[in-house]
Amino acid sequence: MLSTRNTHASLRWLGKQLFNREDPGAFFDPLLAVLNPMWVRGFVPARLLEVTDETADTRSFRLRPSPRWKGFRAGQHINIILEADGVRHHRTFTVASAPRQWDTDSTITLTVKRHPGGRMTNWMHDHLTPGTIVGISQAFGDFDLPEADVPLLYIAGGSGITPVLSHLMTLADRDFRAPVTLLYYVRTQADVIGAEILYALAARWPALTLHVYRTEEEGKTAFLNESHLDTVPGLRARQVYLCGPKGLMDLAGDLLLSFGIKDNQIQTTFFSAPSAVPADTPLGGAVTFGRSDKTVDAEGDAPLLEIAEAADLKPAFGCRMGICHQCSCRKTEGTVVNRLTGKASGPGEETIQLCISVPQGPVTVDL
Ligand code: FES
Repeated sequence: MLSTRNTHASLRWLGKQLFNREDPGAFFDPLLAVLNPMWVRGFVPARLLEVTDETADTRSFRLRPSPRWKGFRAGQHINIILEADGVRHHRTFTVASAPRQWDTDSTITLTVKRHPGGRMTNWMHDHLTPGTIVGISQAFGDFDLPEADVPLLYIAGGSGITPVLSHLMTLADRDFRAPVTLLYYVRTQADVIGAEILYALAARWPALTLHVYRTEEEGKTAFLNESHLDTVPGLRARQVYLCGPKGLMDLAGDLLLSFGIKDNQIQTTFFSAPSAVPADTPLGGAVTFGRSDKTVDAEGDAPLLEIAEAADLKPAFGCRMGICHQCSCRKTEGTVVNRLTGKASGPGEETIQLCISVPQGPVTVDL
């Protein structure tokens, strides 16, 4: 039996042997299966083919996953699994390329912005070079395109443009005829991610209207406000997609509601850990992990995932942001508050996501 340390070293060696192979994934999977079948079930190897600079702090990584990868829909996410300094990390990123790229050359592109103080985004920028083998999950998420040609509005900020790029390229491939407007908020022109793609789409696809607002260069009027929404023809009939920093999404949500857009017209995808929600009654309570026969007292707004980890349990997780559902678990009794929506669950048995569920009184989960 190989030790974990030896197994990781063997994998690194194997990765190096695969640099010049046409299809490393196909070769890599059976070897992983011999070394540790769990790894093959847990993720799919992907070879990094190319790294390109998008802006001063954003890079695109083109990957070729093993043939076992099942593809994705525009707007979906993957988890990437990396070993940095001997520790395995999971991070969630949106696939920025269109499914057509996957169909054409079996590659996908992740576009990653360095986050100040962000351990893994900085590590990826500094260490990932062509030839590296990384692990990825199958795609997940439901930031999906509409099936019919209905008018669309996208509001995106910073690196929140990544699922929008995938959407827009896919819509243009579909020769989508209904009007599509993108309001994109960046600090300066040099911070526009996917600039080449966006301006080329706007030039060749008549349905698309593109507005780039440069908040540092243009001043106050460039921050999202009512006048920006006034420029969108037929706003109330639009299906809206929001993706960006939480402040922008909250503001956009409020403004859209004031313009008569209904909740069910808006789709949002999150790019940061959910924030604490105000609750009418105090949060926390006795949490019983039924299968592990452990009960702990939890205080404050810590989610069940953190409470379980503090109790030395090892629940599955991926994004820790309520997107991937890998932490889904059965609650058998008690009430939890969803940190994304602020809504309380019912008191009975149901499936919850541990990473965004905060106990509100005594709770029992099947873990
Ligand atoms: S870890 Fe992804 S939804 Fe909880």
